Formats: sequence, C-alpha cells, structure tokens
Amino acid sequence: MSHNSDHAFRTRAVHAGHGLDPATGAHATPIYATSTFGYGSAERGARLFAGEEAGFFYSRLSNPTVRAFEEKVASLEGLPDAVAFASGMGAVSALCLTLLRPGDEVIFVAPLYGGTTGFLHEVAARFGVTVREAADEAAVEALSGPATRLIWVETPTNPALDIVDLARVARAAQACGALTVADNTFSTPALTRPAEHGIDLVMHSATKYLGGHGDAIGGVVAGSQDLLAELRGIGLRHVGAALGPFEAYLFLRGMKTLPLRMQAHCEGAQTLAEALAGHPALHALHYPGLPGHPGHAVAARQMSGFGGLVSLDLGSQGAAFTFLNHLRLFTQAVSLGDVESLSCHPGSTTHHLLGEKALRRQGVTPGLVRLSVGIEEPRDLVRDVLDALQHVQRAQFQTT
Ligand SMILES: Cc1ncc(COP(=O)(O)O)c(C=O)c1O
Repeated sequence: MSHNSDHAFRTRAVHAGHGLDPATGAHATPIYATSTFGYGSAERGARLFAGEEAGFFYSRLSNPTVRAFEEKVASLEGLPDAVAFASGMGAVSALCLTLLRPGDEVIFVAPLYGGTTGFLHEVAARFGVTVREAADEAAVEALSGPATRLIWVETPTNPALDIVDLARVARAAQACGALTVADNTFSTPALTRPAEHGIDLVMHSATKYLGGHGDAIGGVVAGSQDLLAELRGIGLRHVGAALGPFEAYLFLRGMKTLPLRMQAHCEGAQTLAEALAGHPALHALHYPGLPGHPGHAVAARQMSGFGGLVSLDLGSQGAAFTFLNHLRLFTQAVSLGDVESLSCHPGSTTHHLLGEKALRRQGVTPGLVRLSVGIEEPRDLVRDVLDALQHVQRAQFQTT
C-alpha cells in the first residue's frame, strides 16, 4: 500500500487502496473483469475456502478492483475495514439482514432515505424486528432500551437538511449496548467522519458524492474488523448484492478528487444560500451553513463544510414547478452529489409514496425544491436560480 494513516485526508483520497498493480506494474488500478480466480492447486483451494489463506477466489466475495475501493473508503472514514455492495440499498439490506434477529428493535431518527425506511418497515418488520421512529436525539434517549440492537441516523437529512448530533446518539447507544449506523451519503468523509463521534458503522450510497460523476450505482459500509467479517460472511456472501469491478474502478477514480469536489460543492451551496437569504419569492430556505438554520451549531461542530444541498420552499407546487422549469443549469433529475447541478421536487418524485402526514413530518411541503449544487462557477448558478425565481414572481404577479 502506498499510503499510511499518518497521511492527510487529501493524500489518502489519492493514494489509499491504490498501488502499482503487482502483476503488471499498471499505475491505474486495473478493472479485474473476472468472475473466478484459479487457485493453482487443490490444497490452496481448500486453504482459501477454509479462510486459512487470504486471496481471491470468486468475485461475489472479493475482487482486487473492489478491494481497492473498500480500502480507500475505510481509510477515508478512519475505520479498519469496508465492504462494498451493488447499491446503497444493497448495503442497507445486507446490514439489516446480518445484524438483526427476531425480537430486536431498531430506532431511527426520522427522516431517513425512503428506501431505508421502506426496508425497515416492510422487510425487517416481517422478521419480528420492531421498528421505532424517533423525532430527534431526545426521543432516541427516551425510546432506547435493552432490546435496542441498532440506532440508525442520517445527517443532513433529505430533503429538509436537518442536522443530527452524532455524538449524542452514540452516547445513547452506548448506554443501552446498541450499535449505531450513520448513513454518511450527504456529508461524505470529506466533511464528517461519524466514527470520530462514536458511531460504529458508516454506510454510503456511493452512487452520490463518492463516485461524484453520476455514472455508477454502488454502496459501501465501513466499520470494525469483527462487524465487517460478519457483514462479509452473511450480508455479502448469502445476500449477494456484490459490487462489480467496473463500478469499483469508477468510484476509485471519483474518490481521488472527493476533497476538491466537496470544497467546490460547499462553496457553491454556501454562496447560493447566502444570495437567496431573504428573497421575497421564498417561503423558507434550508441550508445548514446559514447561521439561522436550527442545526447550524451542531453542523459547525461535526462538519468541516456544510454540504452541497440547498432546499427552497416556494409556497406552492405551482410555484415550485414554474421555478424548476425555468432553471437552465440544474438538470431536473433525482439523485445528488454529481459534478453537474441537479434539481428535484421531492413531493412529486422521491417522496411521492409517503402519505400526507409523513410528508408534513419530514418537512416535504408542496412548494419544496431540492437543489444539488454542482461544481460549476457559483456566480453562474446564483444567476440561474435568481432568473428562475423572477419567472415565479412574474407568474404570481400575473395571477393577482
Ligand atoms: C441517503 C441515501 N442513502 C441511501 C440511498 C440508496 O442508495 P442507492 O440508490 O445507491 O441504492 C440513497 C439514494 O438516493 C440516499 O440518498
């Protein structure tokens, strides 16, 4: 390995998991497009399968390109190991199916990504797991007890960008002997390393900022060697949502620029949020980097930048649609974390399956728009958003 843990984050982003290919000396990590690996002798095959010798033998379980990606994620999260999956949801389901037993209880701080909540309520609950929703950290403290096995959080949350205090949740989990999982997709280790706040397991939809270029789907979980051996042995081996080597290669390439991209995302989002503060067309503006955001103090403590997402409330679905249809640089599409700016109306897209009550609880109002701020020149993005807001104001003026 051409790095060590003393190196700074930016150095590890480039070098961790990356060395000259032992077979050829290739400088870029090769895409090992192979399902299986010859083990040479029956004796070595037996040793590999018995776990007595480390090595590759079947790509559902381990592959050199995928392993390089896992090592880079583990290094950046400051955790001993990582296991990659075919998607963020592959990681969520493998984690739950590995760690939960009938009678266990999972507490999550709402809202979580809809797919995660869906898995907990619609799959985990079928197997005798009790799923409890906590509104905030105080509710976690009140709800947790001896049956609590997992406490699951995401910060900032989607789409209202609330902030969860990771250290406080970790303390509540330690008090009752539960494990904690943080979905770090929105922050990335460039801004928050949950393990530094006492969180046990850190997961990602690598599809978003880790890849960063909107060209691959994948997931990953980082944690201690013991927990990840269990996750690899059950969640990967028996559930089988393995990451392919081509996607692993794209993530490896993307992650080399993660710190630089995150700096640009944060700069763009902060500039945009500050330019929009107090705009008369807005009913609300959510960005943790604004001093008036309710989670600003906690975010300032646990994040080294406030992230690349900004949410706006335009007061009605009609105004939100007018705004979205007049943006030029923000492509209307779900997903986030790409170098290109993206925009979406959560109420009619990502969150449309939630009932009225859940939408209200999660801050998904009819006028809410989520902007994933890309790495374009912030001045151009501000101009684009202000122009689209002008169309909203004009349309409102014409109907009054
Ligand atoms: C926070 C978060 N976690 C998990 C997921 C699921 O990831 P994937 O789409 O890669 O399965 C998403 C997807 O949008 C997400 O936003």
